[in-house]
Amino acid sequence: MKINKCRFCRGKLDLVLSLGDFPVVNYFPNESEIKKEKKYPLELCICRNCGLAQLNFILDPKKIFQKYHYLSSVSKPLVKHLHNLASDAIKKFNLTNSSKILDIGSNDGVLLEEFKKKHIEAVGVEPSFNCSEISTKKGFRVYENFFDQKLAKKIYQDYGGFDLIAITHTLANIVDLNDFMRGVKLLLKKNGVLVIEVGSLKKMLSDFKFDSIYHEHYSYFSFETLSKLLAKHNLTIIYSKNNLFHGGSLRVFAVHKEINTKASKSLGEVVPSDYKKFVSQIKIRKTKLQNLFSSLEGSLIVGYGAPAKSVTLLNYLSLRSDQISFIVDSTPYKQGRFLPGAHIPVFPEEHLNKVKVDYIFLLAWNYKDEILKKIKSLVKKPVKVILPFSREIIEIK
Ligand code: TMP
Ligand code: ZN
Repeated sequence: MKINKCRFCRGKLDLVLSLGDFPVVNYFPNESEIKKEKKYPLELCICRNCGLAQLNFILDPKKIFQKYHYLSSVSKPLVKHLHNLASDAIKKFNLTNSSKILDIGSNDGVLLEEFKKKHIEAVGVEPSFNCSEISTKKGFRVYENFFDQKLAKKIYQDYGGFDLIAITHTLANIVDLNDFMRGVKLLLKKNGVLVIEVGSLKKMLSDFKFDSIYHEHYSYFSFETLSKLLAKHNLTIIYSKNNLFHGGSLRVFAVHKEINTKASKSLGEVVPSDYKKFVSQIKIRKTKLQNLFSSLEGSLIVGYGAPAKSVTLLNYLSLRSDQISFIVDSTPYKQGRFLPGAHIPVFPEEHLNKVKVDYIFLLAWNYKDEILKKIKSLVKKPVKVILPFSREIIEIK
């Protein structure tokens, strides 16, 4: 569905960037499903009134999330990041074994497990059936639904309020932001704390990392737009910090406005020139990367990691299996299937020691350190590693 008004404030949307038509990023088709695959427009806009960066084509969340091939547990650095988030919250807000936690967008239950290890009750909300089923099997109570005000009322009847509500890399995936926040407000105890982590728009723009743009990211938050959303729902940010996760994220802790009216200071605004530079750089990078791949014709090139962002990147660069022979990825759901749109086959990571490859295109660039370690132990050397957002090519001898 195409929209022309902001989903948060109903302001008019201005087009920033049109990337073309793209498939759903977190459903990897098998051979017979490839023919039925659909593509939808991907256009980044900004609201003239509130400044929220967002897409103007809203793909039905049911089409995106019901069968979801992304699992948090398969990426070790992500598990560690969530472990640190839980420890940080427990320490900062004196959470004890009588505290109750709600994780909205709990995927396969990694954060729920971190709280359980500390004997703190944690409840999840996860609309993707295959993911919620995994955490239910681990013994967690998970509401297998999209979170909204209606579900919040039901959760309130079952549990009352929560001491901590965690929304990590989930807020971008919410269509009706105001309804969602009304539900959060209802479930946050009087002295409760809300922790939100989102990809940082400012960092995405400054590093020209356009591959974070895909249909399930309906919104792209800066500190300013996130504060506006929270303020509208009478929530105040008391602590905020940027971190380098996923190439640049923004973590904030917020409480009810009645508890604390002194807001944390801004982490910097996004200005119109940031968008301008971003748009012009993307086109330059596209040409550079396409030229690089043309110059490598005859070499065996494979991809490492098949994250959602690789679907945007490879489709934008029009790279297909004649240039990238296969991709390896640790997610069981993706293996034996094909990368959406580009239709490059995906294999388990161990597949890399079966063939002699010349170049590896590091598609999950946010896990560079972890993956370089794996490449060193798995791959027949020498091999060269291409990073999509750096001019450097790493030689492993
Ligand atoms: P993400 O960047 O959206 O978290 O996705 C990372 C993808 O990369 C996910 O499909 C899992 C995959 N991956 C590997 O294949 N090997 C690894 O060592 C890591 C850390 C991730
Ligand atoms: Zn707006």
